[in-house]
Amino acid sequence: MKVVVTFSIPDAARQMITKHAFLQCWESEDSIPRATLIDWCTDADAILTTLTCPIGSEVLVHAPQLKIISTVSVGVDHIDVGLATERGVIIGHTPGVLTDSTADLTLALMLGVGRRVAEGDALIRSGAWSEGWKPNLLLGTDLSGATVGLIGLGPIGQAVAARLNGFGCRVIASNRTMRSVEGLEFVDRDTLLSTAEIVSLHTALTPETAGMIGRRELALMQDGAMLINTARGALVDEAALIAEVKSGRLRAGLDVYVEEPLPLGNELSDLPGCVLLPHVGSATERTRRAMFELALANLFAGLQGHKLPARLSAA
Ligand code: DGY
Repeated sequence: MKVVVTFSIPDAARQMITKHAFLQCWESEDSIPRATLIDWCTDADAILTTLTCPIGSEVLVHAPQLKIISTVSVGVDHIDVGLATERGVIIGHTPGVLTDSTADLTLALMLGVGRRVAEGDALIRSGAWSEGWKPNLLLGTDLSGATVGLIGLGPIGQAVAARLNGFGCRVIASNRTMRSVEGLEFVDRDTLLSTAEIVSLHTALTPETAGMIGRRELALMQDGAMLINTARGALVDEAALIAEVKSGRLRAGLDVYVEEPLPLGNELSDLPGCVLLPHVGSATERTRRAMFELALANLFAGLQGHKLPARLSAA
């Protein structure tokens, strides 16, 4: 059996894999070139990968033996799930283990934007904080007591709701299917957008959800409202969001972007109404270790023909 790994992994993981299979592992910090990936996958039984390496049709059609794709991510929008399923390829991912870290970071963005944390930090570092405490210095908005709208109510959305309850927020939510969750009210998406002071996205990126927050949806949001995105950049029409933030009407806290890394000279970086993070929702040592371990467990289960601990339910 052969396993292709698209990123550098620790020695212990290599040794574990080589006990079960022949291993081809991409060692460089640069992304694996597409031609190399396709070439390596022609006789691969399994791929261990991350969200920065798309596994699309050009890989899948050249991988006749492929039985399992294990990704170190909960999101699977980098994989052609439909084609993989059609070809009998099982997909393993890492739900659950990153829920709390991602929910924590969502709150960090809400507080960071509302209380202007990055602006305060920049003020001091630039040497421009010259007058001490002032009555109107960096006035922000409270998270406590705010009405927060969650779009998507899977495990991460629910973990965010639980945290917001602790802040005394009114939490409203919209989801594809209604769920009974203590401490929040279900509303339709347009009502949510026009009611919430903070709108936070917690839905997977699929062909149906891509661009779900466009010009019309942003226009429904209240003046001064904040959009938080720790899910996927392509859920939002980024150009429309930039226009709203530039005009000063909306604020934003973003961990994810349509194009990652954000290209140099992008407009978001010039907007003080934004707090920007480099896709680090799950980036704690404990969570990243748990994600990697779950992805390895999925890989080994797949290689041995066992039930995966976390198999993508649609696949
Ligand atoms: C995921 O797992 O899909 C996150 O975006 C990265 O940890």
